[in-house]
Amino acid sequence: MSTVEFKNIRKSYGAVEVVKGFDLKVEDGEFVSFLGPSGCGKTTCLRMISGLEENTSGELLIGGELVSAPGKNIYLAPEKRNVGMVFQSYAVWPHMNVFDNIAYPLKIQKIKSHEIQKRVEEIMEVVELSGLGERMPNQLSGGQQQRVALARGLVARPRVLLLDEPLSNLDAKLRDKMRVDIRAIQQKLNITCVYVTHDQLEAFTMSDRILIMDQGIVQQVGDPSEIRENPANDFVREFIRQSH
Ligand SMILES: Nc1ncnc2c1ncn2[C@@H]1O[C@H](COP(=O)(O)OP(=O)(O)O)[C@@H](O)[C@H]1O
Ligand SMILES: [Mg+2]
Repeated sequence: MSTVEFKNIRKSYGAVEVVKGFDLKVEDGEFVSFLGPSGCGKTTCLRMISGLEENTSGELLIGGELVSAPGKNIYLAPEKRNVGMVFQSYAVWPHMNVFDNIAYPLKIQKIKSHEIQKRVEEIMEVVELSGLGERMPNQLSGGQQQRVALARGLVARPRVLLLDEPLSNLDAKLRDKMRVDIRAIQQKLNITCVYVTHDQLEAFTMSDRILIMDQGIVQQVGDPSEIRENPANDFVREFIRQSH
């Protein structure tokens, strides 16, 4: 478990600034969603936490530790940040069975095989995949495959779990169930979670707090009822009106 702090974080690609400086502290065990239209900078923010992208300026802290601060020449590699990630697509390796998919992050860390066995079984129970270790991904439903990806993101006991539109490829009914399940798992493990989505229903039903972004600029941060009752500006008002 851990906090995540953005301090005046900015990101440019060439001359184009796609994340335009914001502050946020995600608390220990908190579930925060980044919500906004396609292209607004959500994935870039998530990738900066993971270390797959480096912020151009500002400071990023995980668990109070500076992990990226270009001004101070600090940049911790992704594998040293101890964060778990779940993506929308290509989440599961088709040539590995369920057990090996989930065990992968532990194998990379060269953890002993009996310990791997124990940890994979534990996390398979949490995501309700017990007994399916030998199955290949093409023998699983879409929801089960996404649970494999979730288990793989959690098995190394990361300080923070990052999810990027993890439900976008699922059908509507499965999305309903997975929303509830992911939130329940997050609360059970009490893990700090940053969740990226363009889907308001996901953000409003799953999150402790929501950060709303447009064109790289944070528009509002608040809990779901605050945002619903007191939209900070016309963009937020219009954006949340569209689907409620
Ligand atoms: N590697 C890259 N090089 C140049 N521009 C990029 C790169 N990655 C993302 N962008 C641009 O940054 C902006 C934000 O992208 P992204 O964070 O993926 O948005 P979102 O996840 O909200 O849809 C978009 O305009 C996108 O085209
Ligand atoms: Mg994205």
